[in-house]
Amino acid sequence: MNPQDLLRSITRQAREEPDSGIIVAVNRGLGRPEVIPLWAGEGNVPTPDAFCRPAIDSLLRGDTFYTWQRGIPPLREALARYHTRHYGRAFSPENFYVTGGGMQAIQTVIQMIAGEDDEIILPTPAWPNYAGPMRLQGSRPREVPMEFENGRWRLDLDRLFDAITPKTKAIVINSPSNPVGWTASLDELVAVRDECRKRGLWIVGDEVYARFYYSGGEGARAPSFLDICDTEERLLLANTFSKNWAMTGWRVGWLQAPKALGPPIERIIQYNTSGTAAFLQVGCAAALDHGEDFVAGQVAKARANRDLVCARLGEIEGIRFEPPPGAFYLFFAVEGMTDSLATTLRIIDEAGVGFAPGATFGPGGEGFLRLCFLRDPGKLAEAMERFAGWMRHSKPN
Ligand SMILES: Cc1ncc(COP(=O)(O)O)c(C=O)c1O
Repeated sequence: MNPQDLLRSITRQAREEPDSGIIVAVNRGLGRPEVIPLWAGEGNVPTPDAFCRPAIDSLLRGDTFYTWQRGIPPLREALARYHTRHYGRAFSPENFYVTGGGMQAIQTVIQMIAGEDDEIILPTPAWPNYAGPMRLQGSRPREVPMEFENGRWRLDLDRLFDAITPKTKAIVINSPSNPVGWTASLDELVAVRDECRKRGLWIVGDEVYARFYYSGGEGARAPSFLDICDTEERLLLANTFSKNWAMTGWRVGWLQAPKALGPPIERIIQYNTSGTAAFLQVGCAAALDHGEDFVAGQVAKARANRDLVCARLGEIEGIRFEPPPGAFYLFFAVEGMTDSLATTLRIIDEAGVGFAPGATFGPGGEGFLRLCFLRDPGKLAEAMERFAGWMRHSKPN
């Protein structure tokens, strides 16, 4: 059959949804050894043996059957212990649901709270994997651009709350944020909580970078909705093993949600993936229980690399950015650039450095590029050198 006819036969949403610019960049450069990849949100070290071994043993033991839709009890218990350690109060395993990466936690949230034409408020620049699934499922992201003023990112809460309409179901707060690193203060979280309580909206919190927080000294974590909310209120938190424990390829995450939502969440998981591989979950439990030294090392590395890239990029004329208070990305403005995707592809080809294009992060993102700095410091320094050279001799699109 004619390919055009085939495409016309699928839904408009599936046909028209734009590509993630991050994936376009990855597809351009992946497999080219000369390119230094800083496009994706992951480190350069594989998962530690201490988390892999228990998963391998579990696989060899024969943990190869269907399992609990909500996740295996030992992992949900380990999640409760982890949260109790880091958030200073008791948590119940009944509030945790294991998902196929943080991405499936987000997908589950959207499927559960937003129907056809409903709106979810999303501050931007934002990771494209929020707006994309909303559109694919027929709901609408209501994007509220943050402001980059005097070299700092700021979320105007009045503007955020003005975006609420009768169709609004939720407000997404990703803090520390991908891509800009903006981190909400406790006062800002309280304001969002109070507005959501007043208007009967869900808070969708994404705190996957909470441990990568540079303002509060060593061992600090970012302010959290868990500091100020009740677990049984309208609060849904998407989280993942990907970032803290170097497990991006495992595709395991979790959703923290009120106990009352157990049955609908279980149904959504059943009808999407029918659960997450049990042997992977065994490795994830080991990461939670025995991964603190590893996480501390990753955060220290990110902190040092952040200083390195800020120093190097700060020397390049025409580059502006805020040293990010959280997460592990630098989102920087390139003077004169109006097409970040075309520029990204050229930098891959001409300088051998893989960034992600700012435009893919929604309103307010064009004119910027994003790099991930949880990488090998030598490679990062080399990438900055190459990019500085490219900037001296080239004109961005
Ligand atoms: C803000 C944010 N939330 C959630 C995720 C989910 O990650 P994963 O699907 O790898 O678990 C990511 C990954 O980049 C992210 O940046």
